[in-house]
Amino acid sequence: MGEQYSSRAMTVLTARRLQRLAIFAICCILVTYFLLDRTDRVPHRGPWQTWGYVHSSFDWANRPRKHALPGSAMTHLPEGSPRELPRIQYEFANGELSEAHNKTQRERRDAVRSTAAKSWSSYREFAWGHDELLPQSLHGADRFSGWGATLVDSLDTLWIMGLKREFREAVRVASKIDWDSTQSQDCSMFETTIRYLGGLLSAYDLSEEDVLLKKAIELGDMLYASFDTPNNMPVNIFNFEKAKEGQLVANQRESLATVGTLSLEFTRLSQVTGDPKYFSIIDNIKLAFERTQDDTKLPGMWPTFVDLQNGFLTPDSSFTLGSSSDSAYEYLSKMYGLLGGLDQTYKKLHLKAMSTVKKHLLFRPMLPDTYPATPPDILFSGTVLSNGKIIDLLPEVQHLGCFAGGMFALGGKLFHEEEHVKIGEQLARGCAWMYDAFPTGLMPEVSEIIPCKTADLAPCDWDEARWKEEGPSQEADMKQPPKPFSAIRDQQYQLRPEAIESVFILYRITGKKDLLDIAWRMFQSIKKSTETKLAHSSITDVQLDGFTTKIDSMESFWIAETLKYFYLIFSEPQLISLDEYVFNTEAHPLRLPKPTEGHKL
Ligand SMILES: *[C@@H]1O[C@H](CO)[C@@H](O)[C@H](O)[C@H]1NC(C)=O
Repeated sequence: MGEQYSSRAMTVLTARRLQRLAIFAICCILVTYFLLDRTDRVPHRGPWQTWGYVHSSFDWANRPRKHALPGSAMTHLPEGSPRELPRIQYEFANGELSEAHNKTQRERRDAVRSTAAKSWSSYREFAWGHDELLPQSLHGADRFSGWGATLVDSLDTLWIMGLKREFREAVRVASKIDWDSTQSQDCSMFETTIRYLGGLLSAYDLSEEDVLLKKAIELGDMLYASFDTPNNMPVNIFNFEKAKEGQLVANQRESLATVGTLSLEFTRLSQVTGDPKYFSIIDNIKLAFERTQDDTKLPGMWPTFVDLQNGFLTPDSSFTLGSSSDSAYEYLSKMYGLLGGLDQTYKKLHLKAMSTVKKHLLFRPMLPDTYPATPPDILFSGTVLSNGKIIDLLPEVQHLGCFAGGMFALGGKLFHEEEHVKIGEQLARGCAWMYDAFPTGLMPEVSEIIPCKTADLAPCDWDEARWKEEGPSQEADMKQPPKPFSAIRDQQYQLRPEAIESVFILYRITGKKDLLDIAWRMFQSIKKSTETKLAHSSITDVQLDGFTTKIDSMESFWIAETLKYFYLIFSEPQLISLDEYVFNTEAHPLRLPKPTEGHKL
């Protein structure tokens, strides 16, 4: 009886157990099904409809134009097949990269990738679809019209890092962006071009996902309206309603960067669509640059602010490669590359500008004699004030200006100017040196350093008397900057990319392996001082080690640029080769036309 009972009990028990097991199994399957990102099942490539594409609510393409176009005819992309450009990247010999080297590279690359994945997943969780994640308060913030600046800016980084599931999830959202705004009256033409249009075009070039091109064209058509002004010069503050009516008027005081940083994006859009209108309208700006280059107060360069309303006037007196000017210079040689070497004007503009920069803006810092071996061979680029007769160098170093090393080196390769490659290296190493000069291992946003007064950028000895006179003022309540700095104008580090950008380009061009260790040191310092529990944040003061104060800001360029350059320098040199891609100023690689291809036109 006992036995019978127990065996019947066993049967019941087994049946129940089976039932439970079955329910459990079904639950498991369901949970897995819902937890696993279902965008995974979206085909890797697909027609744009499969992404849930939605057209913008305003049809910018068919907006009637108010003002006549410049000249009599549309300017087409230069004819002929692209030239064979000089090789940019260093050719690593067989066996030059050892197994140990490759292992270190892999480990460093993976560390960068996890940092990016962490920042991205927090953006996804707390700020999805917003422009930025506030990395401490963990909210979304919108500063760029709320179209999802971080989302679009990160697309190509996700692709390059092999975060394909994250990429597809972001493409789904990007394919519904409405290029119009209910949030704000206007957007910045410059920021929208470099972050959104550059981001979409680059992600399209890498993935060939058609929906990204569709959204890029819609956006390009919107930004094209910025040129519908009486003289066809663009307006940076893009007011949506005025743009729709063709009532925009170009500014009397516009920063040089905003007018000079549209060319790569607009040209690539013409190349991939076959529609010349985008190229035509920026080619008009090139002509203005060409017309005025020799007539400014510092011939060869253009001032930081130009008058776009009355043609293209250049009466201002401040000249720099830093804030508000920077990428206007960066784009000259890059345009030569993107046009396959078929437009000599860009070569001329670039070489003339660089020769003026070399003569008047570059300087060598006066360094203390504390270096055990030889002092570092470094240069910086400052700001010049000129009234046309007296030329004053302000030895101010901006983090934003650190891109100049890469610019000189790239142009040096493109135009066979070996000296420019060397200057590029001295500039790149200058910024890297400045990272090391502060206790956090990070460079401040703006500082000043006493220049040598030697000819031809030659080194000079430390001059204690000059230091006492020109060094930091001895006010008791002011924190003194470390020698040899004479002032720190802005102590912040804002997660900026320009220094690693130049170190990356110099590594790809020279193959010098010590640059990898420099890059790794920079990465570790950035990680240590900016990491929050779930992301990374700008900090208030690079002079405070240990407890850095965070600003609760993580701009979209952190993933788009800074982490991309770190990832690429620790990857094999063929990944996004400088012989196949040109980076826009937001680190978005655009594909260079191949000599055999010709343009689509
Ligand atoms: C290291 O990686 C490079 C490519 O990145 C490769 O060409 C080389 O063969 C690798 N070296 C070894 C020893 O595996």
